[in-house]
This record gives sequence, structure tokens and C-alpha cells, in this order.
Amino acid sequence: MLAKTHAVITAVGGYVPEDVLTNADLEKMVDTNDEWIQTRTGITERRILKTPGLATSDMVVPCIKLICEKRGIHPEEIECLIVATVTPDMVFPATANLASYKAGATRAWSFDISAACSGFLYALTVGASLIESGRYKKVIVAGADKMSAIVDYSDRTTCVLFGDGAGAVLLEPSHDGYGILDSILRSDGSGAPYLHMKAGGSLRPASIETVTAKEHFAYQEGPPVFKAAVKGMADVSAELLDRNNLTGEDIAWLVPHQANKRIIDATADRMGLSHDKVMLNIHRYGNTTAATIPLCLWDWRKDLNKGDKIVLAAFGGGFTWGATLVKWAY
Ligand code: UT7
Repeated sequence: MLAKTHAVITAVGGYVPEDVLTNADLEKMVDTNDEWIQTRTGITERRILKTPGLATSDMVVPCIKLICEKRGIHPEEIECLIVATVTPDMVFPATANLASYKAGATRAWSFDISAACSGFLYALTVGASLIESGRYKKVIVAGADKMSAIVDYSDRTTCVLFGDGAGAVLLEPSHDGYGILDSILRSDGSGAPYLHMKAGGSLRPASIETVTAKEHFAYQEGPPVFKAAVKGMADVSAELLDRNNLTGEDIAWLVPHQANKRIIDATADRMGLSHDKVMLNIHRYGNTTAATIPLCLWDWRKDLNKGDKIVLAAFGGGFTWGATLVKWAY
């Protein structure tokens, strides 16, 4: 009998824009200071996609190209592209449609997933299921957000947190026990009031009033989100270890969503994981929403070894949260 098909990650691509927005820059824009930002969040700087005419899909395209280069494949060989984002180029068509066209992945069917900061984990599970079904052999899953498009740079409670970026992985089938092994995903719409964008959807379509009231920006009540994130991310990560008979000792890396260093530390502690096994790049990029986890995989691509068991964990708007267990395949 053929062993179970798993989806393995066979290549990673990442992209951040060149323009850097530092804490010192923000000090000139709003009433904040480097010390507050660093101690409360861990962020030092973030990248901003400033070039007019460029959007989220334009950050996905270089990721696709890097992946194709690494695997020595043509973009036309990609069968499906899934993009997790809350900052699509436009309401429709999907950012994935635009990115696959621009990258020359003309045979791929493509769609977006909206799950805020947990978007990459949601998309990874969907992509893995397509591979596990046996119907697809090459699926790209991307997380990408141009948060600067929905951040109010006069609101100090949100503008210091977010940055722009994208990351992606290629999924292919394997039968030797590597790959995406398990996933726990959750959502709870009662969290919506604490983190959302008020207007621009069918509830409050764009109007002079919504623009004047600044309702097209990300709105967050930090403390309740913080509280739910610490519990949610730590709970699912611990549950994932437990049901796979693993302890922190078995885990080579925790790859957490990068919203706040204090949330990440709490999750690592709950998993019994020493902090040197935690991927952390929040100081360089801030919170890039759906891009944080694949951007970590991109930054640590040379440190990952075949057979490493890694846990990806996220919490975000919705609320949405989850954790995924991966056995690194190369
Ligand atoms: O990625 C999606 C999910 N999102 C998250 O996981 C984010 C979760 N939340 C957080 O990470 C934190 O709640 C924040 C980093 C957003 C805020 O940190 P906090 O420790 O919860 O601060 P706070 O909102 O309770 O504010 C504390 C104080 C307030 O002043 P008072 O009322 O104590 O005088 C704020 O007005 O800090 C003030 N404050 C600032 N001060 C300087 C808020 N923002 C700033 C700022 N600079 N940028």
C-alpha cells in the first residue's frame, strides 16, 4: 500500500520593499518614542511599499519567481496559487489572479483567502489538502499584505505596528513522512469588534462620510486582542504538541506570527521551548499580517534542516488563530 501523501514545502520565496520606516521616523509623525515601541512590541523598523502603482500582488510576484528559480521550474507548471491577504489590490478580482498573471503562472487557478494574520496558516492547510487529495502536484501558497495602504499614520496606536511584505512556499506531494503533518485552526467572529476595518465592505460602502470618519483604516483595540492572542496562540500550539506526542524538546523551531514579541515569548514558554529556537524578525519588519510566517521561513531558509520539526503559530483579526506542525523536507 502506498504511504499517505503529505504536502511538503520544497521552496520558499520572500520579498520586502526597499523603503524603511524607522521608529525615529515615526517619532516625527505621531506622539510616540522608540523606547515605548521597542519595549511594548519589539519593533525597530518596518518596510513600506511606496512606489505608486504597486500593490500586494507586486510583492507576491517576486516570491513566485524566486520559488520557480529554486526548483528550476517554469511558472506555467504551477497549478494553483492561493494568496492570503487582507489588503487585496482591489475587492475583485482576487490578488492571486493578478499575481499569477503577472508572474506568468498562466495555467494556475488562483484565489484569495481572508483570515488576517492567520491567513497564511489557513491557506497552507487548504493548499496541503489539494496536494493530499492527489489532484494537484504544484501549489503555491503566499501570505502578502501592503498594510501601509490601510494604516492611519496619524493614529499612534496602530501606525507603529505594521509593515509591508510577502512570502510564499511551494507545496508538492511526498510519501516519506515529511511535510505538513497536522494543523489546528480556529475562528471566533465575536472578536470582530476589537480588530477590523469599519468601511469599504457591503455593510458600510465607501462614501464621503466613511472617508471623513477615517473608516477605511485598520481599527484595533490592542489590550483585548493581546489577551486573546496570548491565550489563543499558546493554547493551540500546546494542543498540537500534545496530540502529536511531542514536547518542546522535539521542536527545532517555533515560527510565530510577528505581532508582538511579548505574545511570542508567552507562546514559547507555554510550549516549553527555549527562546533561541524561536524565529523572530519583528524588529526588522513589524507586523506584516499574512506575510510574517513565510517571511520567517525565508529569512531562516539556510538554518532549516531536513527532518526539523517546526511549529507555525498565528493569531489575528476575526478572531482567527491556529498552529501547524511541519517536518522540514530538504
Ligand atoms: O496581528 C494581529 C493581532 N494583533 C495583535 O496581536 C496585537 C495585540 N496587541 C498588542 O500587541 C498591544 O496591545 C499593543 C502593542 C497594540 C499596545 O500595547 P499595550 O501594552 O497593550 O498598550 P495599551 O494599548 O494598553 O496602551 C498603554 C499606553 C496608553 O497610555 P495611557 O492610557 O496608559 O496613558 C496608550 O495611549 O500607551 C499609550 N500608547 C502609546 N504611547 C506611545 C499607545 N500607543 C502608543 C505609542 N507610543 N505608539
